Amino acid sequence: MNYYAYRMLRKCQESDIEAIYEIYFHPEVNPFMNMKKMSLSDFQDYWAKRMLNEQIYVQVDGNNVVGMICTKREENRCAGTATISSFAIHPDYQGQHLGAQALAEAVSILQNQGVTRVQLIVEEDNSNARAFYKHQCFEEEGVLRNYFNREGQIVNEIIMAKLLN
Ligand SMILES: CC(C)(COP(=O)(O)OP(=O)(O)OC[C@H]1O[C@@H](n2cnc3c(N)ncnc32)[C@H](O)[C@@H]1OP(=O)(O)O)[C@@H](O)C(=O)NCCC(=O)NCCS
Repeated sequence: MNYYAYRMLRKCQESDIEAIYEIYFHPEVNPFMNMKKMSLSDFQDYWAKRMLNEQIYVQVDGNNVVGMICTKREENRCAGTATISSFAIHPDYQGQHLGAQALAEAVSILQNQGVTRVQLIVEEDNSNARAFYKHQCFEEEGVLRNYFNREGQIVNEIIMAKLLN
């Protein structure tokens, strides 16, 4: 059996939330997530609400949840646009093409739903993610100044997008 057959994106289930919590609050990941440290039980409530309103997938490696990607369709006249609202791969699994695989599959699902623009914001000082997204053909469109407050450190956000045609 091909080892890589065990690496796939699937829909998030409530039983995945603890593993997502571990990724979200990993010290190398959390500076780039829009969420201060909270208890697991508060996070479970928060994530369960997000699961109602967003399309959330987990990247698995065998039985391990090693990443998550969340997308949200915009509404009405902006319905052709979807936003990637959270995305991370556990640091132990980064650099193994799992992020590229997860992003490509999530974008493909959106494209099949009629989405023609996928956008996201990324902190200006997140040079790894900015390079990664450029590699995946996302383009930087502008700067949202002073958008993000990392415990007192004010950071610009870069808006990036990929058009699907
Ligand atoms: C950004 C992130 C999701 C990338 O996931 P990953 O699994 O490490 O990336 P991959 O291994 O799939 O990389 C795919 C390609 O992007 C390239 N890439 C990744 N990081 C890069 C970097 N820092 N500089 C240049 N290229 C990079 C890889 O070289 C690879 O290229 P190749 O296909 O030519 O070999 C991951 O680093 C992460 O979770 N970071 C912390 C959380 C975060 O910043 N999330 C984004 C919030 S907006």
